[in-house]
Amino acid sequence: MTSEADIKAAIPSELSAMVRSVKLADGVATIIADAGGLGRSAAAQLQRELEQAVGAVEGVNEVRVALMADKVQRQIIAVGSGKGGVGKSTLTANLAVALANQGMKVGVVDADIYGPSQPLLLGTANDKVRAEGNTLIPTQSEFGVKMLSMGQLIEPGKAIAWRGPMVGQALGQLMEADWGDTELLLIDLPPGTGDVQLTMLQKFKPAGAVVVSTPQDLALIDATRAIDLFKQAQVPIVGLVENMAGYLCPDCGAISNPFGQGGTESAAQALGVPFLGRIPLAMEIRVASDTGQPPTANDTQHGAHFAGIAAQIAQFLGAAKG
Ligand SMILES: Nc1ncnc2c1ncn2[C@@H]1O[C@H](COP(=O)(O)OP(=O)(O)O)[C@@H](O)[C@H]1O
Ligand SMILES: [Mg+2]
Repeated sequence: MTSEADIKAAIPSELSAMVRSVKLADGVATIIADAGGLGRSAAAQLQRELEQAVGAVEGVNEVRVALMADKVQRQIIAVGSGKGGVGKSTLTANLAVALANQGMKVGVVDADIYGPSQPLLLGTANDKVRAEGNTLIPTQSEFGVKMLSMGQLIEPGKAIAWRGPMVGQALGQLMEADWGDTELLLIDLPPGTGDVQLTMLQKFKPAGAVVVSTPQDLALIDATRAIDLFKQAQVPIVGLVENMAGYLCPDCGAISNPFGQGGTESAAQALGVPFLGRIPLAMEIRVASDTGQPPTANDTQHGAHFAGIAAQIAQFLGAAKG
């Protein structure tokens, strides 16, 4: 008679530490193992090795392996804006790098089907995205941030005329990729309040939303719309960020306000949402971003602005976790 002890004896010693229980009934061996901390492919390998080892035991006709995974408490923060070109992607990339610098395991999902820009911003434009079966493997940037982008799923330059179901499917692929031990996903949303936003809110409810605006009235009206959408979906607003505030002239040192001044902060006040901070309009931010070197990744004067906002997001997440 084959016993459970026979099965335990057949499990290679390097695997036995992970085995939590072994049961045998009517020739069916059930093995429960702890795959905590293992990535998807290591867990799959553990499963195969257990099946092989136990399946070879005489009297075992069938092996069932159940792997217990770590429950990664993954939180989602959506970064939205009413209109394009206000610096949503720049903010997302820099917040991700800043939060990674603060010790968080961060991933970025670039859900902007109209203008995916995270591969450029995070310097991963030359990395081909890999998949295991139907599961995408996020790309690792040099800044300790994992990322996946709509831009990696669709040919660059192809006009995006996607509607609801396709958008939902593509977003699902990005969100349900093998994010491993990633604790926080920052979602770079397309501007406005379209299909991607709705799918996001219905299927992957974020813990909070950050909304970016430039200081001028028009952008603020659009930002208000974005905030309304999140509020309707009962997604807490982490706060509003003002981008492209005061321009510091590199030649004369004067500060001018091409897009107005302080509008976002008073809008935040009027809307009853926190104001998270402002980022100046600066040539270095644009240049660094275009070369795949987020200002936050290097010790630049502008990194501190992003880091300050990142710290408030970390605080929000800590409170949301309870
Ligand atoms: N604070 C800033 N100072 C200078 N340029 C900026 C700043 N924020 C964004 N940009 C530039 O503005 C352009 C649009 O920013 P982007 O982040 O792509 O906006 P969005 O994602 O909202 O469309 C990019 O070229 C970016 O480098
Ligand atoms: Mg963008």
